[in-house]
Amino acid sequence: SIPVITIDGPTASGKGTIAQHVAEALGWHVLDSGALYRLAALACLRAQVDPADQQQVAKQASNLDVRFDSAGIWMQGQNVSNDIRQEAVGNLASRIAAQPPLREALLARQRVFRQAPGLVADGRDMGTIVFPEAPLKIFLDADAASRAQRRCKQLKEKGFSAKIDELIADMEARDARDRSRSHAPLRAASDAHTIDSSHMGVEETVKAVLDLWSK
Ligand code: CDP
Repeated sequence: SIPVITIDGPTASGKGTIAQHVAEALGWHVLDSGALYRLAALACLRAQVDPADQQQVAKQASNLDVRFDSAGIWMQGQNVSNDIRQEAVGNLASRIAAQPPLREALLARQRVFRQAPGLVADGRDMGTIVFPEAPLKIFLDADAASRAQRRCKQLKEKGFSAKIDELIADMEARDARDRSRSHAPLRAASDAHTIDSSHMGVEETVKAVLDLWSK
């Protein structure tokens, strides 16, 4: 079957960057599952859906008209790569991500990314729920200070303003929600390898994953 490497972990642990690089090194596809939650959130904001209305939120996700290509992420023909990175969208994504109907609606959308020759999937539940049979599972962690710095840099690159203290508070709230939700909480799969990247650069972390894969 088509191999999958899953990379789960808390917010801003560098999953996305590492997933991209590992996928490039192997010539594989990549799934940024968080982008789907962010797209669902953006669709809800634009359609003015009440975030507490779980059925309507799930419906937005089922009806998402999205495309991922080398130029970015598109929703209804519009490039929304930057829009979905805004903190307001990330915060709403984090809140609605606790809803089982939404998670259910996004399951099939995530699994279609598994295409030859392989997939690197990053998120919170890639190794536990979406691709439980993946032959290599990584849990990528980093301490709160390193993660806040990475997030700050990422936001500034996109032209958004960011304050470190607010980011830390925000990240902690988001992690607490991800870890404590009853449905698909953030946790390492029992067969995952944990990598703490607090003091590791991108190249070093990518190499650690590739070494595990070639073993
Ligand atoms: O950028 P950040 O790491 O904060 O988040 P993301 O990966 O872009 O995902 C946005 C939100 O979607 C997260 O805060 C999670 O709550 C949620 N999410 C999830 O529940 N399950 C996933 N597989 C991916 C994201």
